[in-house]
Amino acid sequence: MIHFNPESRTFNLILQSSVYAMQVDNKDRLVHVVWGPRPADGNELLSGRIRPFPSDHASFEFQTRRDELLTFGDTSVHEVTLKASFATLPDPLPDSDAPHLPIRDVRLRYISHEVVTDAEPGLAPAHGLPTVNREPRETLRIKLADPVQPLTVSLCYRLTPAQDIIERWLELENTGETPIEIEQLFFATLHLPNGTTELTSVSGAWAQEFQTQRERLPVGRRVIEHRSVQTGHLANPFFLLNRPGQAWEEHGTVYFGALAYSGSWQLSFEQLPGTDVRVHGGYHPFDFGLTLTAGARHKTPAFVYGVCDEGWGGASRRLHTFTRERILPVPQNALAERPILYNSWEATYFGITEQNQIELARKAAAIGVELFCLDDGWFGGRRFEVAGLGDWTVSPDVFPNGLEPLIAEVNRLGMAFGLWVEPEMVNPDSDLYRAHPDWVLHFPGRPRTEARCQLILDFGRAEVVETIFNALDSLLAQYNIAFIKWDMNRSASEPGSVVGKAIWQAHVAGVYGIIDRLRAKYPHLTIESCSGGGGRIDLGILGRTDQVWTSDNTDALDRVRIQEGFSLAYPARVMEAWVTHEKNHQTGRFHELGTRFDVAMRGALGIGASLNALDEAELKEYAAYIAFYKRIRYIVQGGDLYRLERLEEAEASTILVVLPDGSEAVYSTVVHSHKLGQFRRLVPLRGLIPSATYEVLDRFEKVRLTATGYELMVQGIPGDEDGRSGHSRTLHIKRVD
Ligand code: DGJ
Repeated sequence: MIHFNPESRTFNLILQSSVYAMQVDNKDRLVHVVWGPRPADGNELLSGRIRPFPSDHASFEFQTRRDELLTFGDTSVHEVTLKASFATLPDPLPDSDAPHLPIRDVRLRYISHEVVTDAEPGLAPAHGLPTVNREPRETLRIKLADPVQPLTVSLCYRLTPAQDIIERWLELENTGETPIEIEQLFFATLHLPNGTTELTSVSGAWAQEFQTQRERLPVGRRVIEHRSVQTGHLANPFFLLNRPGQAWEEHGTVYFGALAYSGSWQLSFEQLPGTDVRVHGGYHPFDFGLTLTAGARHKTPAFVYGVCDEGWGGASRRLHTFTRERILPVPQNALAERPILYNSWEATYFGITEQNQIELARKAAAIGVELFCLDDGWFGGRRFEVAGLGDWTVSPDVFPNGLEPLIAEVNRLGMAFGLWVEPEMVNPDSDLYRAHPDWVLHFPGRPRTEARCQLILDFGRAEVVETIFNALDSLLAQYNIAFIKWDMNRSASEPGSVVGKAIWQAHVAGVYGIIDRLRAKYPHLTIESCSGGGGRIDLGILGRTDQVWTSDNTDALDRVRIQEGFSLAYPARVMEAWVTHEKNHQTGRFHELGTRFDVAMRGALGIGASLNALDEAELKEYAAYIAFYKRIRYIVQGGDLYRLERLEEAEASTILVVLPDGSEAVYSTVVHSHKLGQFRRLVPLRGLIPSATYEVLDRFEKVRLTATGYELMVQGIPGDEDGRSGHSRTLHIKRVD
């Protein structure tokens, strides 16, 4: 609910268990009042009588006024949300003042507000596919303007009360005659209560994405960021924040946020002297530049944020439900749950032939796979990574009869067909590059640094975006393709584009635009976002894809840690997880099949092993696991996640995924490393109905235990006291009374 009191000029945004309040002060500035959990029966409104700051500012260093939108101007000495410069004044200027131009000072004052239904942030999906939950949502739009300069800025707040989530974005408009240069632009700044200084975020690298880190914010700034045209491996744009020692996995007040954007981004956490905490999130200030020409508007993407009283677990569950219900598209004719995928990359790499893919497809279908994806190497001159990217036509050297025979066989076997593409890239050794060497990001006269032998296409050029759209469109028109794995295997360097600095946003808009157009034209199509593993995972890309390739690292024990960090923000439904070889190709370590399945079954299960190299007995084991996963996947992909034991603090990872009504659950434990000779404790479960009776079944549907929800939640499930590294188990828990 959005409430405005015209006398006190206070806004109350009331969500299920939290409140966000602002006020227009006596100088018409919009200032933050409070954000936090609210008592269950506290339906009263905040009056705005209690002022969180004593005065405008006690001194420059101790600025305490919490402007909802902090601008460069006035006395700003700390980080700002928006910095703009104006060529001159709208009125004639005395000659003596000319050397002081441009004017870099913005002060925004309240003009008006409105409540609208279903407003959209910038770069919202345009494919037209529905989401699971289509209930309309209220958006508060508060219009502010500079009293002198022709700049208006609307602050937008879209409410999803059930998950205590607000999506926030800015709408800028140049109402004047001369261009305005926007030099810095975050989507929003959040004001957190003093002392909210314990930050949880993830860092990473290729094959080591989503490594959880927890730290105390220093006085000053700490940034997490990525400077490229994709989200990046080094960090991911989400955070959890709480008072040190006052929140835990299932307890305490936790503030959380994430950016719905896949480009160069920054989250900047700022602790002022006096422990005031601010979070600024949006476009990375690095090489940022946006010109608002006369009459032009710019809408930023959304900064998604919320608060809850149920610890880090409660924050994750809210983000998961929000993503499943409000962000992910629902494609036509696709399975309600993510299908079992077979991907042939680790089986054949660049050595693909029609015959070996058909053999793999037959084996995959026999073990229960539902979607067969042909990976890199099927097109142009792409026999290795050195050539072919950009030439999106089927290679007659690999598929002399085209893709039809393979697709026909895959479909005959009852599976859908998927195809790998890397549309933003070009190898210099390609027909596309030979024809258009100017179509890549580069600065004239400067080197073009190749990574993985490839360059990035300049999506600032409309003709490039059109060419790539047409290439993908032809493939989809010609072949029965149900799934695309959209890959992206390098970071940006030498970002020279025909659109100048605007390339950082133009690239993202180009990628989103192509996907949206394809999805609108092929509503049955599903897409996986991949960027050398988990390099493009965020709430922006999830609005137009169905799943993500979590990491190129498929080693079960490495993967369980990656998945734990991933689960802080993103739901299991989108987390593609393959079972690969006994001797892992990335780490060289051996893991039992059970461990590999138990880890992969925590997400959207896929298979990436060389099925042609497995014997009948092994294939039978694969089939049994896949059949088990199919029985539990609606719980894994749609339930509420409880991290019962986290690798971050224990030697094992144990999770429970419970259906929202508490009737069924999946329990999964994986021991990572444990001191031999010590027994592990039992792990109490959560989220069940205390008075209900449950049966605990193993993967052969054998009842291992019958107990009440109360017993399971107070004591736990025996059988995992084994300290062996790699010990793992997945159990299905069913209410029986
Ligand atoms: C990187 C991806 O993460 C892999 O799964 C595979 O598709 C390769 N690219 C292919 O080049």
